[in-house]
Amino acid sequence: MSKSQGGQESPPSSFRPPYEVIRWSERDFSILDQRYLPSRTTYLELRDIASASQAIRTLAVRGAPLIGVVAALAVAHSARRGGGEKRLLDDIYALSGTRPTAVNLFYALEKMRDIIENGGGGTDILNGALDIWEKERLNSLKMAACGQELLKDGMRVGTYCNTGLLAAPGLGTALGVIIKGFMDGKNVEIIVPETRPLLQGSRLTAWELNQWEIPYTLITESTLASVVPDLDAVFLGADRVVLNGDTANKVGTLGFAILSEYFHVPFYVVAPTTTFDSSLKEGDEIPIEQRDPDEVRCFGACTTAPDSALVFNPAFDVTPAHLISAFVSEEGITRPPYGRNLRK
Ligand code: MRU
Repeated sequence: MSKSQGGQESPPSSFRPPYEVIRWSERDFSILDQRYLPSRTTYLELRDIASASQAIRTLAVRGAPLIGVVAALAVAHSARRGGGEKRLLDDIYALSGTRPTAVNLFYALEKMRDIIENGGGGTDILNGALDIWEKERLNSLKMAACGQELLKDGMRVGTYCNTGLLAAPGLGTALGVIIKGFMDGKNVEIIVPETRPLLQGSRLTAWELNQWEIPYTLITESTLASVVPDLDAVFLGADRVVLNGDTANKVGTLGFAILSEYFHVPFYVVAPTTTFDSSLKEGDEIPIEQRDPDEVRCFGACTTAPDSALVFNPAFDVTPAHLISAFVSEEGITRPPYGRNLRK
């Protein structure tokens, strides 16, 4: 990748991700099914809104920007298969009930609703969805470039969950900054927590870094307190950032942020402006998805707790703004005080 210039998108001439996450052709629409990674690379066809909704709900496709893009494409696919206005609005309603926390889903669906309610035809609907996809791809490349100011050669950095191309088109969000750093020749040591209970770190981030041939060290979350004192920075993503800078991200982010503050490690959130929700003032207003208890009672196919065990399984937690050292978006780097600086 060509050398970064802060805030400039600098796609390399040879830039080609080593895997495809969305397959979209004139007739077909499928996604890389993330449930089977890292063991199997299989594509899941999203025939209709039911299969797209199921894919989002079951995390066959996931990550804040990516679920917005896939939802928009699912509406466009439904339109080209003959859906009329009422059907498409029902489709949007169904998709909006899949996952409550990542605001990108609602951002994308609102854009699609606007086009349909304003009388847009099939071509407008298709172009609307393709625009959302392209916008997120460009956002990602710009964030990857902006983030280079914070990622120095020789750093040891931590990340969390999965924030690569499996979460956002382009290069991803936080992982995109790290991948671009490597492409620019920076020697960066990466710590990847496995991210219980669904292992987005070990199954997805580790798999992605393998595809890019970037070395990393995998740890359990229990090891974080032993590792954070030796980190130079943490880069992670977000599912929803509200006006005061409070940020929802994968459960476990809050603990990582508290440890980072304790050990004086800069904690950076990399998220496009489509992840910012200016309708909410504070983090406790963010709806937090609660997931199936069996995700905690079982480890893959293996039962690891009594069936009767009571389980608390939120998919996300909220990190207060004062624990976040800076936000990186496609518009640049924002530092505290967030109340004022995040409001444009
Ligand atoms: O439940 P997931 O796997 O969709 O959660 C994803 C995350 O929490 C990511 O960190 C987040 O979407 C930001 S990266 C694009």
